[in-house]
Amino acid sequence: MLYRFCPEIPNLPEELSNFSEEDIRKIKDEFTGVKVEPGSKSSYTLHTSPLDIKNFLLPYFEEHYDFAFQLITSDLPIHKDFERRSCYNYIFSSGGDVNTVWYDDDLKQIDSVIFPEHVWHNIRVDTFHNVINVSGTRIALTVWEKDETAIGKIF
Ligand SMILES: [Fe+2]
Repeated sequence: MLYRFCPEIPNLPEELSNFSEEDIRKIKDEFTGVKVEPGSKSSYTLHTSPLDIKNFLLPYFEEHYDFAFQLITSDLPIHKDFERRSCYNYIFSSGGDVNTVWYDDDLKQIDSVIFPEHVWHNIRVDTFHNVINVSGTRIALTVWEKDETAIGKIF
């Protein structure tokens, strides 16, 4: 299964959902994966989320999980993630009619979905995937368990 919805995790209350792109960009970008074009402005950034978000979600995750905002400003290349095999995402702002697409190792499309805003879902990220049709900034919260055996790959 490449994705599933997670109704057991509650929606974030309004006071924990009203972060703007500008607010989030004030937090340091911690993304350590490969930049799409070295030297260029990254279309994917990762910013540790405030402690009150982590505290709200802690009953539903384990203490050692990472909690961060991710910003996506253009379509991503097909890739496997670095240091994680799956993640839980919660989209604040979709950035358009964005498709999340998965591919087999021959890069043949195997699944595609448009995730709604404000609905927790879990996705596999150790299978090739990308997002396409990004027209604005896609703002999401992402939660994951670090797994250093996931070595990632990017095309
Ligand atoms: Fe990814």
